[in-house]
Amino acid sequence: MFVSITLLCLLGGSQSFSNHFYSSKRSSLSLRVSPAMPPTDSSVLTPKELDSMKATMPKTKEDIQREISRDRYLYPKHVEVIRDFEDKVDSAVDDVLLETGANMWQPQDYLPDMEREDWVEQLKEFRGKAGTVADDTLVVLIGDMVTEEALPTYQTLLNTFEGCDDPEGDTQNAWARWSRGWTSEENRHGDLLNKYLYLGGRCNMRKVEETIQHLITSGFNPGAAQDPYRGFVYTSFQERATKVSHGNVAKLARSNGDDNLARICAMIAGDEARHERAYQSFCDEVIARDPDGFIEVFSDMMKAQIVMPAALMTDGADLSLYDNFSAVAQKLGVYTAVDYAEILQYLVDRWDLEHMTGISAVSEEKRDFLCNLPRRYMKLATRSMNKAVKDNSYETKAFSWINGRRA
Ligand SMILES: [Fe+2]
Ligand SMILES: [Fe+2]
Repeated sequence: MFVSITLLCLLGGSQSFSNHFYSSKRSSLSLRVSPAMPPTDSSVLTPKELDSMKATMPKTKEDIQREISRDRYLYPKHVEVIRDFEDKVDSAVDDVLLETGANMWQPQDYLPDMEREDWVEQLKEFRGKAGTVADDTLVVLIGDMVTEEALPTYQTLLNTFEGCDDPEGDTQNAWARWSRGWTSEENRHGDLLNKYLYLGGRCNMRKVEETIQHLITSGFNPGAAQDPYRGFVYTSFQERATKVSHGNVAKLARSNGDDNLARICAMIAGDEARHERAYQSFCDEVIARDPDGFIEVFSDMMKAQIVMPAALMTDGADLSLYDNFSAVAQKLGVYTAVDYAEILQYLVDRWDLEHMTGISAVSEEKRDFLCNLPRRYMKLATRSMNKAVKDNSYETKAFSWINGRRA
């Protein structure tokens, strides 16, 4: 983190330096204006230069769209491939995503209705059930809710994947519609969990809100590097991981005694399940068109571990908050190293890497690496989990989210 901040300062510094340089040298330099990077300060340009710059700037909506659609991609082949199956994405928007609005579940369906006369009774019953949830389950639920609430970060990232972005904000192509539709479904997850926690009265909402703000401010880098293939591998993995996590919290909530929370988490897990199927099917399409490219990206990503979206989580005081939250999730079996290995195995099987044909010798080697990886992870995960149980080494930590109680 320190390195990034230093780098940013250096970059900022050098930019101001160059602006100053151009301003002070205006009279003696013949400044060439590039339409790609128009200077914003007209005081550094002569009127003639300003006119010529204006002439090169797009004016109409059609001009703007032409500018946007110009291929200036880091991964032109990947963009070409994903454009080739836009019709499948169009179908996914209609068939995989739920209908928007009245026909779709909304957070309010799972919460006390504050408009009704008996809202006090409803709320009392709701809080009574929330009171049965154990602190460690609560901590995992809060961590999951904070992760969901950082949705602005994920939509931003989705828009960095070349070719499946939404360049204008209301673009009507299949990828842009998918991006907005997916976001609108995800938006309900953070909303519902946030309201559940607020009404349940079991946690320090102020501390939870501080954590959300910190996380959105810190951001998150999944290592996709604007590559749509990487983006789809990441989302294929991550949607399944969140499905597992919400599904397991649902089971805990039911056994604790809160069937409201159980229903809430199961409903959210259902959304994640639809999303994982969609992203995995996008990968099917990539594999059918560019198996070598897919294997290269998948193996490259798996050399490092898949980073969880809330890795930079903090409440402002506990810089190890994410590790502490993850440790509770691991202890409860909500999301563990074994789940990680199982998800990887699922994806290797789902995309049938073992029987993939027509790939280069280099890809075959990478494919073999991928096919062996889940077994290796599973061995390590089982060994370390058995050791933790045997040593009884879990140490509880204090969480500001629950007013310093330990979990
Ligand atoms: Fe979600
Ligand atoms: Fe999701």
